[in-house]
Amino acid sequence: MAAMEDSIRRRTLPAAAAILLLLRLVLVVTAGGDGSCSGNGGRQLWVFGDSYADTGNLGNLGRELTRAWYDPYGRTFPRRPTGRFSDGRVLTDFVASAVGIATPVAYKLRRGVPGVLLARGMNFAVGGSGVLDTGYFQRNLSAQIDLFQAHLRGCAPAGGVALVVVSGNDYAAVVEKDNSTSAAMAYIPTVVRGLREQLRRLRDEVGMRKVVVTNLHPMGCTPFFTRKLNYSGCDPIANAGSDKHNEALRSVLAALDPDNRTFLLLDLHTPFTGFIDDDHPSSSSSNASARSSSKTKTRFPMRLRLRPCCESFSADGYCGQQDDAGKRLYTLCDEPEQHFYWDDVHPTQAAWAAVADTFRATIHDFLST
Ligand SMILES: *[C@@H]1O[C@H](CO)[C@@H](O)[C@H](O)[C@H]1NC(C)=O
Ligand SMILES: *[C@@H]1O[C@H](CO)[C@@H](O)[C@H](O)[C@H]1NC(C)=O
Ligand SMILES: *[C@@H]1O[C@H](CO)[C@@H](O)[C@H](O)[C@H]1NC(C)=O
Ligand SMILES: *[C@@H]1O[C@H](CO)[C@@H](O)[C@H](O)[C@H]1NC(C)=O
Ligand SMILES: *[C@@H]1O[C@H](CO)[C@@H](O)[C@H](O)[C@H]1NC(C)=O
Repeated sequence: MAAMEDSIRRRTLPAAAAILLLLRLVLVVTAGGDGSCSGNGGRQLWVFGDSYADTGNLGNLGRELTRAWYDPYGRTFPRRPTGRFSDGRVLTDFVASAVGIATPVAYKLRRGVPGVLLARGMNFAVGGSGVLDTGYFQRNLSAQIDLFQAHLRGCAPAGGVALVVVSGNDYAAVVEKDNSTSAAMAYIPTVVRGLREQLRRLRDEVGMRKVVVTNLHPMGCTPFFTRKLNYSGCDPIANAGSDKHNEALRSVLAALDPDNRTFLLLDLHTPFTGFIDDDHPSSSSSNASARSSSKTKTRFPMRLRLRPCCESFSADGYCGQQDDAGKRLYTLCDEPEQHFYWDDVHPTQAAWAAVADTFRATIHDFLST
């Protein structure tokens, strides 16, 4: 099926592929488009990255490895698990909405999806992945772009917008392997260099017109770190790592695209910090204007800001964990919309919605230039 789709999308069909040609005509008619891979000229969003952006690519490999396919994930929206690492919508959903299109289909779920929907782009992001290999089984960033290119062979994504989301798995993998935050710090230049190469590739090889790339949220404020502190504060070393990564990313973009023509640095760090960490101003993001708005200050009650809605009983357990008898090994809050974090590393839908309020206009302006 994938091979057939690829063939269909090729501009020049292999000679004598009469049967394919026939199929192509049929599909063009049913899709109602012009048959080109760029759809009907409408906007397209191509998404690459990790669990902050994944909308179903992780597949279902069982509760522990792919918890996003199990209860209680998805309980707010759409009231069942969909492979999103949240109680509901994730970053991709809100960026798509800011771009003015429906959420693009996840690559893994593309089969049987009508051509008109596929013409809106596709999501290749997969939970657990990094710029480089993280030692799990997920496609790294460059492999995701390879897959995208194979999928759309011969087609330039005219009018295409890419979203690139890197949320720290490269660093988590190093910490897990070496139990050393200094090793993770030392890894930052390597990760950012790898990211730069993929960003350059999206513009120069793939021909993306616009590329939105997120900076790193304050990792030390995720419940993964704050749990040890009884949810009373953030881990300063992990936060310094985020700042260092963001500084490096800023200079990469300044060198790659001095006029900000192709790339938009989507600042997640400032609104995350504003919503969860009033007392720990960050050295990143010059001014943190989001922090000064009173809406930001009161959106999530202080005592819940660093505490996840879904909390495993044990620090090395996970949200959604059950014992052999199916008994829950986690607690679940009653009001996920009061929490910024859903589980040990992922925001709630309410958090993403609040963060998206701070960037909607920025994305809109960027795409209209
Ligand atoms: C990314 O994954 C591909 C395919 O598995 C692998 O060949 C490549 O070495 C990886 N790249 C990095 C930078 O880890
Ligand atoms: C990791 O390192 C910290 C101190 O650097 C130490 O307290 C902790 O026990 C180590 N954990 C493991 C699993 O080795
Ligand atoms: C953790 O914080 C809660 C209130 O948020 C408090 O009741 C509890 O005593 C604290 N525990 C420790 C070990 O500080
Ligand atoms: C490009 O964007 C960055 C922020 O990401 C900003 O600091 C810089 O001034 C912008 N450059 C131009 C030429 O607008
Ligand atoms: C922060 O930004 C506001 C307006 O954007 C400006 O008036 C203020 O001087 C800035 N503060 C600092 C410390 O840069």
